[in-house]
Amino acid sequence: MQDEFIVKGNIIFTKDLGKYEIFENGYIVVGGKLVKGVFKELPEKFSELKILDYGHALIIPGFVDLHSHAPQFPNLGLGLDKELMPWLDSYTFPEEKKYSDSGYAKKVYSAFIRSLWKHGTTRSCVFATIHKNTTKLLMDLFAEAGLGAYVGKVNMNRNAPEYLLESTEESIDNTKELLEEYDHKYELVKPIITPRFVPTCSFELLKSLGELAKKYNVPVQSHLSENLSEISFVKKLHPKLKNYASVYDEAGLFGDCPTIMAHCIWLEEDEIELMVKNEVFVAHCPNSNGNLSSGIASIRKLLERGLNIGLATDVSGGYSVSMINAIVSSAMVSKLKWLESNRTDKPLTTAELFYLSTKGGGKFFGKVGSFEEGYEFDALIIDDSNLSIFNPLSMEERLEKFIYTGDDRNIKERYVAGKKIEEPKQY
Ligand code: GUN
Ligand code: FE
Repeated sequence: MQDEFIVKGNIIFTKDLGKYEIFENGYIVVGGKLVKGVFKELPEKFSELKILDYGHALIIPGFVDLHSHAPQFPNLGLGLDKELMPWLDSYTFPEEKKYSDSGYAKKVYSAFIRSLWKHGTTRSCVFATIHKNTTKLLMDLFAEAGLGAYVGKVNMNRNAPEYLLESTEESIDNTKELLEEYDHKYELVKPIITPRFVPTCSFELLKSLGELAKKYNVPVQSHLSENLSEISFVKKLHPKLKNYASVYDEAGLFGDCPTIMAHCIWLEEDEIELMVKNEVFVAHCPNSNGNLSSGIASIRKLLERGLNIGLATDVSGGYSVSMINAIVSSAMVSKLKWLESNRTDKPLTTAELFYLSTKGGGKFFGKVGSFEEGYEFDALIIDDSNLSIFNPLSMEERLEKFIYTGDDRNIKERYVAGKKIEEPKQY
């Protein structure tokens, strides 16, 4: 017998970009992992099911973080005084070196996962480091916690300190081992092919990773067009290729399998076309893009072109693991972009950003990020009674108030794929 139950409360989610679906004092019927329906009045045929009544609380989909780096969690809030390339050398690579040590990795990775849980991030796409054993550990810890994740062993074989480099052969062999061991090990935690970015991977390595992605039918994540010095460096490394995106494309990393590219700030028109054609996902990381003086991505333009877009924290280029922080940062930079574009690229609304942080990124995981029938039931129960104290607020206003003025203390329960998730263990 499938476990069936009902959650009752003030339900708000987005089916389409920018448009709320609201069921005040409504019901979500859950069967196993999936939503069976959402209702204003409970249909008679469900009247025997157990109801979890969350009273006045808001019920929203869990957040999806489309791009972060688990080993950078100790650096959160530190070292934000440089641009990308010197930032990697000064702060990021020295921290990532430590993940050859599984004791250290277990401590940090369990703290990172607890923090995701606390902040209501139910699914994430995460970079680990080059170290295969602690990448496996990160996957095991996600599975033990019950959160959904794509986790990548980072691949790099050049232009980084010796201590973070592998040979092409080692990089491929270790990635292959991970794919074989973990592709079917867990339902909610899966491997993802993760070349760090073009500068740290030879073309031979990128091409072999493209072949692995196709052979094992696994997705790909990387970085694209984040910083102007990075882009010049890529041009120097690949003078014969048209642009940054075409390096990934030529290597077979674009579109044969689902692909996420973080940042996408300085894209050329040809790159946008290539991404549209290959249905590449963009992970928008506004907090990081401000901290590392990277720039402001034209999300309004990319949305108009029909690209798949999700929001992301990019810990620790981003100083916060919180997806409500990612929403607020996205809103603010979209207003600056509006000015910069002589008021042509309209600012992103809260409803649009709520969509991108749930169903937009959730699409990478399948049917995730909405309460429509057939979606996996990932949900947060939000007690906002300390926030809406002066005037009665509409459902839309309550959600907006939570996003802008609430925090993890307002999140009372988390569900992932139909299961209530308790606080993960800190090792
Ligand atoms: N590009 C290559 N590596 C990284 C990283 O760790 N963080 C960010 N923000 N960009 C990168
Ligand atoms: Fe990143």
